[in-house]
Amino acid sequence: DWSTERAAQVIAEHKHLDGATMPILHAMQETFGFVPDPVVPMIAETLNLSRAEVYGVLTFYHDFRREPPGRTVVKLCAAEACQSMGSTALTAYAEEKLGVSMGETSADGRVTLEPIYCLGLCACAPSALVDGQLVGRLDRATVDEIAECVAA
Ligand code: FES
Repeated sequence: DWSTERAAQVIAEHKHLDGATMPILHAMQETFGFVPDPVVPMIAETLNLSRAEVYGVLTFYHDFRREPPGRTVVKLCAAEACQSMGSTALTAYAEEKLGVSMGETSADGRVTLEPIYCLGLCACAPSALVDGQLVGRLDRATVDEIAECVAA
Protein backbone atom coordinates (compact mmCIF):
# COMPACT_ATOMS: atom_id res chain seq x y z
CA ASP A 1 0.00 0.00 0.00
CA TRP A 2 1.22 3.45 -0.74
CA SER A 3 1.67 6.13 1.88
CA THR A 4 2.40 9.84 1.77
CA GLU A 5 5.46 9.28 3.98
CA ARG A 6 6.96 6.68 1.67
CA ALA A 7 6.14 8.85 -1.37
CA ALA A 8 7.91 11.81 0.23
CA GLN A 9 10.92 9.58 0.84
CA VAL A 10 10.96 8.47 -2.81
CA ILE A 11 10.84 12.10 -3.92
CA ALA A 12 13.65 13.05 -1.55
CA GLU A 13 15.83 10.23 -2.87
CA HIS A 14 15.51 11.36 -6.50
CA LYS A 15 14.84 15.09 -6.51
CA HIS A 16 18.47 16.03 -7.08
CA LEU A 17 18.59 14.19 -10.44
CA ASP A 18 18.48 16.05 -13.75
CA GLY A 19 14.93 16.05 -15.07
CA ALA A 20 13.84 14.39 -11.86
CA THR A 21 10.17 14.02 -12.85
CA MET A 22 10.66 10.81 -14.84
CA PRO A 23 13.00 9.10 -12.34
CA ILE A 24 10.62 9.96 -9.51
CA LEU A 25 7.58 8.64 -11.37
CA HIS A 26 9.45 5.44 -12.22
CA ALA A 27 10.53 5.04 -8.60
CA MET A 28 6.92 5.55 -7.47
CA GLN A 29 5.73 2.82 -9.79
CA GLU A 30 8.52 0.51 -8.66
CA THR A 31 7.75 1.17 -5.01
CA PHE A 32 3.95 1.08 -5.08
CA GLY A 33 3.17 -0.78 -8.30
CA PHE A 34 1.47 2.34 -9.63
CA VAL A 35 1.65 6.11 -9.42
CA PRO A 36 -0.98 7.37 -6.97
CA ASP A 37 -2.61 10.64 -8.09
CA PRO A 38 -1.85 12.46 -4.80
CA VAL A 39 1.89 12.29 -5.50
CA VAL A 40 1.48 14.66 -8.48
CA PRO A 41 1.16 17.84 -6.38
CA MET A 42 3.91 16.57 -4.07
CA ILE A 43 6.32 16.17 -6.99
CA ALA A 44 5.25 19.50 -8.52
CA GLU A 45 5.90 21.36 -5.31
CA THR A 46 9.30 19.79 -4.71
CA LEU A 47 10.54 20.34 -8.26
CA ASN A 48 8.96 23.77 -8.62
CA LEU A 49 6.81 22.66 -11.51
CA SER A 50 3.12 23.12 -12.13
CA ARG A 51 0.85 20.19 -11.41
CA ALA A 52 -0.13 20.21 -15.08
CA GLU A 53 3.49 19.64 -16.10
CA VAL A 54 3.90 16.62 -13.84
CA TYR A 55 0.48 15.33 -14.79
CA GLY A 56 1.41 15.74 -18.46
CA VAL A 57 4.46 13.51 -18.07
CA LEU A 58 2.50 10.95 -16.07
CA THR A 59 -0.25 10.63 -18.67
CA PHE A 60 2.01 10.84 -21.73
CA TYR A 61 3.84 7.61 -20.97
CA HIS A 62 1.62 4.60 -21.07
CA ASP A 63 4.04 2.62 -18.94
CA PHE A 64 2.86 4.47 -15.89
CA ARG A 65 -0.02 2.78 -14.15
CA ARG A 66 -2.44 5.08 -12.36
CA GLU A 67 -4.37 2.40 -10.50
CA PRO A 68 -3.06 -0.41 -8.29
CA PRO A 69 -2.31 -3.46 -10.44
CA GLY A 70 -3.86 -6.89 -10.02
CA ARG A 71 -2.02 -9.59 -8.08
CA THR A 72 -0.69 -11.00 -11.35
CA VAL A 73 0.39 -8.70 -14.16
CA VAL A 74 0.33 -10.24 -17.62
CA LYS A 75 1.89 -8.20 -20.41
CA LEU A 76 1.37 -9.46 -23.90
CA CYS A 77 3.68 -8.27 -26.64
CA ALA A 78 1.76 -6.34 -29.25
CA ALA A 79 4.69 -5.41 -31.49
CA GLU A 80 5.25 -6.50 -35.06
CA ALA A 81 7.15 -9.78 -34.79
CA CYS A 82 4.69 -11.12 -32.25
CA GLN A 83 1.74 -9.88 -34.30
CA SER A 84 3.03 -11.78 -37.30
CA MET A 85 3.06 -14.88 -35.11
CA GLY A 86 -0.55 -14.53 -34.08
CA SER A 87 -0.43 -12.40 -30.95
CA THR A 88 -3.65 -10.58 -31.85
CA ALA A 89 -5.75 -13.74 -31.80
CA LEU A 90 -3.95 -14.90 -28.64
CA THR A 91 -4.72 -11.59 -26.97
CA ALA A 92 -8.41 -12.07 -27.67
CA TYR A 93 -8.13 -15.59 -26.25
CA ALA A 94 -6.32 -14.30 -23.15
CA GLU A 95 -8.97 -11.62 -22.61
CA GLU A 96 -11.63 -14.30 -22.69
CA LYS A 97 -9.77 -16.79 -20.48
CA LEU A 98 -8.66 -14.22 -17.91
CA GLY A 99 -11.97 -12.40 -18.00
CA VAL A 100 -10.38 -8.99 -18.40
CA SER A 101 -9.91 -6.58 -21.29
CA MET A 102 -6.53 -5.43 -22.50
CA GLY A 103 -5.34 -2.49 -20.42
CA GLU A 104 -7.54 -3.35 -17.48
CA THR A 105 -7.51 -5.02 -14.08
CA SER A 106 -10.16 -7.60 -13.26
CA ALA A 107 -12.85 -6.49 -10.82
CA ASP A 108 -11.65 -9.07 -8.27
CA GLY A 109 -8.12 -7.62 -8.42
CA ARG A 110 -6.61 -10.91 -9.50
CA VAL A 111 -5.07 -9.95 -12.81
CA THR A 112 -3.99 -7.01 -14.91
CA LEU A 113 -3.61 -7.45 -18.66
CA GLU A 114 -1.44 -4.95 -20.48
CA PRO A 115 0.18 -4.61 -23.87
CA ILE A 116 3.94 -4.24 -24.14
CA TYR A 117 5.92 -3.33 -27.23
CA CYS A 118 8.71 -5.83 -27.89
CA LEU A 119 10.38 -7.79 -25.14
CA GLY A 120 13.47 -8.50 -27.22
CA LEU A 121 12.27 -12.06 -27.53
CA CYS A 122 11.09 -11.81 -31.13
CA ALA A 123 12.81 -15.08 -32.06
CA CYS A 124 10.43 -16.84 -29.68
CA ALA A 125 7.36 -14.83 -30.66
CA PRO A 126 4.69 -14.47 -29.52
CA SER A 127 6.06 -13.36 -26.18
CA ALA A 128 4.73 -12.27 -22.84
CA LEU A 129 5.90 -11.07 -19.47
CA VAL A 130 4.10 -12.67 -16.55
CA ASP A 131 4.92 -11.04 -13.22
CA GLY A 132 8.24 -9.99 -14.64
CA GLN A 133 9.08 -13.37 -16.10
CA LEU A 134 9.63 -13.76 -19.83
CA VAL A 135 7.50 -16.32 -21.59
CA GLY A 136 8.21 -17.21 -25.22
CA ARG A 137 6.29 -19.22 -27.81
CA LEU A 138 3.06 -18.28 -26.15
CA ASP A 139 0.12 -20.38 -27.27
CA ARG A 140 -3.36 -21.23 -26.09
CA ALA A 141 -2.04 -23.91 -23.73
CA THR A 142 0.27 -21.39 -22.05
CA VAL A 143 -2.57 -18.92 -21.73
CA ASP A 144 -4.68 -21.68 -20.15
CA GLU A 145 -1.89 -22.32 -17.64
CA ILE A 146 -1.62 -18.65 -16.80
CA ALA A 147 -5.39 -18.46 -16.34
CA GLU A 148 -5.25 -21.45 -13.98
CA CYS A 149 -2.50 -19.85 -11.88
CA VAL A 150 -4.41 -16.58 -11.73
CA ALA A 151 -7.58 -18.35 -10.59
CA ALA A 152 -5.79 -20.39 -7.91
FE1 FES B 1 7.31 -9.26 -29.48
FE2 FES B 1 9.78 -8.49 -30.13
S1 FES B 1 7.95 -8.10 -31.16
S2 FES B 1 9.16 -9.72 -28.50
